[in-house]
Amino acid sequence: MKKIEEYIRSIPDFPEPGIIFRDVTSILQDADGLKLAIDSMQDCLKDVDVDVIVGTESRGFIFGMPIAYNLHKSFVPVRKKGKLPCETVSASYDLEYGKAEIEIHKDAIKPGQKVVIIDDLIATGGTVEAAAKLVEQLGGVVVKIVFLMELAGLEGRKKLEKYDVASVIRYEGK
Ligand code: PRP
Ligand code: MG
Repeated sequence: MKKIEEYIRSIPDFPEPGIIFRDVTSILQDADGLKLAIDSMQDCLKDVDVDVIVGTESRGFIFGMPIAYNLHKSFVPVRKKGKLPCETVSASYDLEYGKAEIEIHKDAIKPGQKVVIIDDLIATGGTVEAAAKLVEQLGGVVVKIVFLMELAGLEGRKKLEKYDVASVIRYEGK
């Protein structure tokens, strides 16, 4: 059986020189790889009491939704600015390259709800730190954060020190 790392294609110098891009499409396009990815992420939630799964647009949707469905929990999207039609709260953050703003519907999370945040990758940690702040602004409690991949060299975990963070695949570099 192939190991989970073997399903991830690495592309040097994309989207800019010096960056090794870890491509999730190569795991998704293989039925065994896709199952292994979802099952491995879901395993991190075995002992976690959760009400709501939050996924960050767009790759967090791919991995968050099947986990929410499997666990019979609700799914809440954190979207890039300007996409959600009702009242929102928003947060800006720095990306590895550039700036971004994300938002969540105000009524999507009720005070006291236990929330798990899912994304494909932690690089600088900015995206999920911003998502966690939005959840907390609405009174949600972030009980766990799960990534498929972690670029440990960028030390994104430092931004998420106060949370329980798990990643399935760890790359030592950037
Ligand atoms: C990528 C990735 C993570 C984030 C990680 O998303 O999917 O969400 O960057 O980087 P960070 O830890 O430095 O915040 P991106 O914003 O490229 O958009 P996408 O998910 O829509 O592809
Ligand atoms: Mg993303």
